[in-house]
Amino acid sequence: MSGLIERYASRLPFDRDDPVISLGEGSTPLVRAPFLSKRVGAEVWLKLEGANPTGSFKDRGMTCAVSAAVREGAQAVVCASTGNTAASAAAYAARAGLRGAVIVPEGKIATGKLAQALMHGARVIALRGNFDEALTLVRALVEAHPMALVNSINEFRIEGQKTAAFELLDDLDGELDALCIPVGNAGNITSYWRGFGEYGAAPRLYGFQAAGAAPLVHGAPVAEPETVASAIRIGNPARWEEAMAAVTGSRGAIQAVTDEQILDAYRLLAAREGVFCEPASAASVAGLLAHGVGDARCVVCVLTGHGLKDPQTALERSGSVVPCAPDLGAVEQAVLA
Ligand code: F0G
Repeated sequence: MSGLIERYASRLPFDRDDPVISLGEGSTPLVRAPFLSKRVGAEVWLKLEGANPTGSFKDRGMTCAVSAAVREGAQAVVCASTGNTAASAAAYAARAGLRGAVIVPEGKIATGKLAQALMHGARVIALRGNFDEALTLVRALVEAHPMALVNSINEFRIEGQKTAAFELLDDLDGELDALCIPVGNAGNITSYWRGFGEYGAAPRLYGFQAAGAAPLVHGAPVAEPETVASAIRIGNPARWEEAMAAVTGSRGAIQAVTDEQILDAYRLLAAREGVFCEPASAASVAGLLAHGVGDARCVVCVLTGHGLKDPQTALERSGSVVPCAPDLGAVEQAVLA
């Protein structure tokens, strides 16, 4: 399978002879959600962005950001991250032969993401601070040093991520009324709106933030964001205006969901739909269930990252294993109980 840059060559800012750093990202599954469809009385689909090479939607943006960095002659890439951007940047940097450095909030990123960044050989810096502080510092860092910044303030990230909107419209023959999406730094909702616009479509965009990290809902930055959904633990989104323009322009909404609602949706997706996403991703479904999407008939919930990213939360929030002695009687009892 070819990657995004090849597939969408005419819609992305690359020429035929430009270097392409790809891991075969994009072309992710869009699966129907029968349980949710019945529950909400609409046709609900799940876009499984966890099926990207590093397990999150970030790879769409990263193939473009890192390819552009190579074209520009960069030697290193750097980012601030709640985890997924770090994992993706580390992988694409490794692929490109560039050095990678990622700055993450200490103790606040999921285990799988940390393992990825380390395995891909990035320098992982655990900041005694939150994501917003990390982003401020990394912006200052690249002013003074020749490194490519690959956060979603990088335009190539938005360009790559807009391709998910193309895939949805292609798969649904344009019959999409509403999109539910988690919002953190607000790059992804910005990207979808751009992609829809370029295809001449305008579904309503419903963005959902965790209640403890909902600056766009409150209309003011949150100094100390807190949520179980560590990926969207962000108090001052970089793409604030664009996100609000997307919501307003599409006549959608930006709303909050509690950690409890997020975890309920997280478990429901795994137990009823067979889809394991990470907690932040479940905010899209939590929002659909808590707030609805008006009279929309066809709804897509974007599941931004794979559940295996965060095994710790899964183990803490699910059932326990059944201990068993190694004899048939005990096994019968354990299995049939
Ligand atoms: N879902 C997941 C799984 C994420 O990792 C992120 C962002 C979002 C949703 C929100 O997307 O920031 O474009 O609004 N993760 C970033 C990171 C911040 O560093 O990995 P957004």
